[in-house]
Amino acid sequence: MKKDDKILELFKKNKDSFLSGREVSQSLSISRQALWKHIEKLRELGYTIEAVPHLGYKLLQVPDKTLVSEIKWNLKTKIIGSEIHYYETVGSTNNIAYELATEGAREGTVVIADEQTKGKGRLGREWVSPSEGGVYISCVLRPDILPNEVPKITLVAAVSAVKTIRQFSGLKALIRWPNDILISDRKAGGILVELKAEIDRINFAILGIGLNINTSRRLLPKGATSIKEESKSSSDFSRVEFVKVLFKVLEKEYLKFKEDGFRAIRNDLKSYSCTLGRFVSITISGKRKFHGKAVDIDKNGALVIRLENGSHETFLTGDVTLIR
Ligand code: BTN
Repeated sequence: MKKDDKILELFKKNKDSFLSGREVSQSLSISRQALWKHIEKLRELGYTIEAVPHLGYKLLQVPDKTLVSEIKWNLKTKIIGSEIHYYETVGSTNNIAYELATEGAREGTVVIADEQTKGKGRLGREWVSPSEGGVYISCVLRPDILPNEVPKITLVAAVSAVKTIRQFSGLKALIRWPNDILISDRKAGGILVELKAEIDRINFAILGIGLNINTSRRLLPKGATSIKEESKSSSDFSRVEFVKVLFKVLEKEYLKFKEDGFRAIRNDLKSYSCTLGRFVSITISGKRKFHGKAVDIDKNGALVIRLENGSHETFLTGDVTLIR
């Protein structure tokens, strides 16, 4: 553990009391001067640390940045977040995670940023990722599945995101198949899975999740929203706490999927779907468009649509618009 993290750990364990400089520096085997430098560095990162002569130090406030030390504190996962790379600002976390995976990063390695300047959405779209209030995460996964099963990873992540939002805020988040997370019919998050694979083998998948937590609507594209906007809360949600819950839920759902297959996820997916039972249009590769009623999500995670002529068509991927 790094010295800064050790200092924070000491402060957090003694939340309500002052710790003398002597106590802290002795338990870390550093000089009082070195301790002072660490305190200054933590303050620069946004920690509010009170220093009172003859009493010592007390941690008053932690910053709402998705800092590694904050996420790792009491994190209860084994795989997801086992290694975390944090950036204040970055082009796209998916790109960084892709590079790390190419260099051999292990499953569960996460790249997280407070802001993205070139956030990527599905189908070549931009993912607006302002620094104020979003969570932008990419996770290296190495599932033992065939490349044609990768769309299921998106669905596992969508179920995890919805469960996290519900648990965290009580809001009734839903999934617009396959990757949109909606609250009150507005988009609050999305999932982008990128892949390095051979014809019959996956090298790795990068699971990118973007969720608007405290972001104000004026910073988001039309039709988008955030958890804070929808909960009408005047105070911010803790992004760090949100990420911890997300990692835990994601790990549970991902392991379920790995051990018991997609059928272990399918029921939840169907019950969280706002697509099923609706009249939809689905566009394939930006060209072919189909209209009909969404009637099922099958055992492969594909959307089944009853077309206007009464026949059924199955889609493993596509861009869905809810019509009525
Ligand atoms: C979509 O709905 O179109 C997918 C959005 C995915 C956004 C996330 S944010 C973290 C990761 N990095 C990216 O550049 N994109 C994904």
